[in-house]
Amino acid sequence: MPTPTLNPHLPFGENKQADWYGKDILSVKQFSRADLEYVFGVAHEMRGMVERIGTFDLLKGKILANLFYEPSTRTSSSFIAAMERLGGSVISINEVKYSSVSKGESLPDTIRTLECYADVIVLRHPETGSAAIAAKAAKKPVLNAGDGVGEHPTQALLDTFTIMEELGRLDNITVTMLGDLKYGRTVHSLARLLTNFTNVKLNYVSPDILKMPKEVMDEVGEKNVPQTEHSSLDKVLAETDVLYVTRVQKERFEDPADYEKVKGAYVIDPEIMKHAKKDMIVMHPLPRVGEISTDFDDDPRAAYFRQMEYGLYVRMALLAMVLGKA
Ligand code: NCD
Repeated sequence: MPTPTLNPHLPFGENKQADWYGKDILSVKQFSRADLEYVFGVAHEMRGMVERIGTFDLLKGKILANLFYEPSTRTSSSFIAAMERLGGSVISINEVKYSSVSKGESLPDTIRTLECYADVIVLRHPETGSAAIAAKAAKKPVLNAGDGVGEHPTQALLDTFTIMEELGRLDNITVTMLGDLKYGRTVHSLARLLTNFTNVKLNYVSPDILKMPKEVMDEVGEKNVPQTEHSSLDKVLAETDVLYVTRVQKERFEDPADYEKVKGAYVIDPEIMKHAKKDMIVMHPLPRVGEISTDFDDDPRAAYFRQMEYGLYVRMALLAMVLGKA
């Protein structure tokens, strides 16, 4: 798939994709292939702008409310950096214990408050469906930065952008997802988003108690994307173009004894990776807690640090799009 570019003869503001202006981004289900090509084109352009001039004034005067009810390093700071690189500013609330949430304020009321002061709201929350509840309460766009075990659409967009930039294609790929496929929201979104491409094959490798949810597999199956399930990497590593490793989501287990049983189930290291292709990539949404040995970090196939950087450009693109500037 060629990476589309914006019309270079028009300033950013004139390349307006009216479709996204004022919209919420709650689920990857909102994105068609054409939408993805558009996002990647804008993100690619953002990359060039950041590399050439660093910070510019596309969203000057606009304010982002960055509301995080769950821990975050990358998602939170990349949204802040994205807004500031576009010349906007940020109200950051990541210690909700210091906000009125600790006094028992409801999510809709907190959202209604923040939209009095901001033009766009980014929300991370532990409950599935919370982003949709926030979006219902808000007139301003709400971007889902992870709703419990539900979805993480901006991560899946940056994941697919990473694959596009690294492998040059999203069609004709075999993607192997490894680890906690039950509680990992990033893989729920990524599997769904990959159904927009042709000749994609998905392999799921997990312990028995952490399998990909049936709901996600049914949706992917309806789009006729082949899926296979495994408990070991052995059979699928050699055919894999993208190995997407995930952390076991300790905080989401009902019984801590179950976590003890499966933690450390898989560890990617240089020895195992001898069995993989030379031109494949290893991705991870991060944080990692031992699933990828640091000994592998210098391998050119280790794309997880570059993946974080791509996240900045994708989040710049999304902010510009919902604020009507891309
Ligand atoms: C992920 C998340 O929060 O879902 N991290 C991220 O956004 N980069 C993955 C995780 O926490 O394991």
